[in-house]
Amino acid sequence: MVHDVSGPIPATGGGPILVTGGAGQLATCLERAAGDLPIRRIGRPELDFDAPRAIPGLLAAIAPRMIINAAAYTAVDKAESEPDEADRANHLGPKLLAAYACAAGIPLIHVSTDYVFDGTKGAPYGEDDAPCPTGVYGATKLAGERAVMAANPRSIVLRTSWVYSDVGRNFMLTMLNAARRMPKLRVVADQIGNPTNAHDLAHAIIKIAATITREGWRSSHGGVFHAAGTGFTSWHGFAEAIFRHAASHGAPVPELEAIGTADWPTPARRPADSRLDCDRLDRVFGVRLPPWETSLARTIDAVCGGESASARLP
Ligand SMILES: NC(=O)c1ccc[n+]([C@@H]2O[C@H](COP(=O)([O-])OP(=O)(O)OC[C@H]3O[C@@H](n4cnc5c(N)ncnc54)[C@H](OP(=O)(O)O)[C@@H]3O)[C@@H](O)[C@H]2O)c1
Repeated sequence: MVHDVSGPIPATGGGPILVTGGAGQLATCLERAAGDLPIRRIGRPELDFDAPRAIPGLLAAIAPRMIINAAAYTAVDKAESEPDEADRANHLGPKLLAAYACAAGIPLIHVSTDYVFDGTKGAPYGEDDAPCPTGVYGATKLAGERAVMAANPRSIVLRTSWVYSDVGRNFMLTMLNAARRMPKLRVVADQIGNPTNAHDLAHAIIKIAATITREGWRSSHGGVFHAAGTGFTSWHGFAEAIFRHAASHGAPVPELEAIGTADWPTPARRPADSRLDCDRLDRVFGVRLPPWETSLARTIDAVCGGESASARLP
């Protein structure tokens, strides 16, 4: 659905930029990245997509000038056995946010995933490539994308991938923790994608929010954008890089065995090659995320460096 809604953001939403996702890794990083922009970060139980009736009143009380939705059901395997929970968080909840945003005339930045693709293209996916999710998580995220775009013409859908940081649950912290307990780790080498640092993604989102605030909404701002770290690797290559950098801080380095997807059966099927082409984000907003390994090295320095490093590992 395309409406011409270009123009300044109305004064009705004079409150802060609302960030959903509570203590999730991206929501946490968004608050840290906000700079001068006023941010209000909320999560469960205050904002719970499983309790949707409370949400319109909550939004009206906050009167946000913009919403950034970083809340999601992100347990890819568990979603296979909890499709209703995943649908409420990834589809119906975001649809509710978008309906409010439309009524208030405010923009919604909604975060989505590379797992909307089946990974068979053999080249980086562009925003116009046809999605074809292989599991419940991807399917509910795709339904959320479509619902958000249909409900609010001032919507930005940002697809990202392989998100990690020094906070929350993610592959990098899982690897570092596993290495403290196990001398050898088996890691899948036949799935490739773009590792994305949550702080880099948060800074990109804040830059987009600042641009919209400064320029007012333009129709070119709306639609789907890919936003992932620059460059790609496999999970095994990601693990190798993690331990290459961690080793310089004296962290334990395990033996890494490269295995195939077939050797590591999971409830959800994952795309073999979900690389994202992020050129559109650069063209429209002048934003390109840093090379993934540069950001990984910085994050490992923060997590493994210094005297209190072990305290930072959950
Ligand atoms: N992590 C990745 O590798 C990855 C990859 C591609 C795309 N993404 C997307 O990036 C975005 C941010 O992900 P993330 O890594 O920050 O995820 P995360 O750390 O798992 O955080 C997700 C947050 O959503 C909240 N949430 C879950 N179900 C909810 C519900 N029913 N109602 C309200 N809040 C709910 C969680 O709350 P609780 O803390 O209470 O559980 C959590 O705080 C998501 O849209 C995700 O789909 C992530």
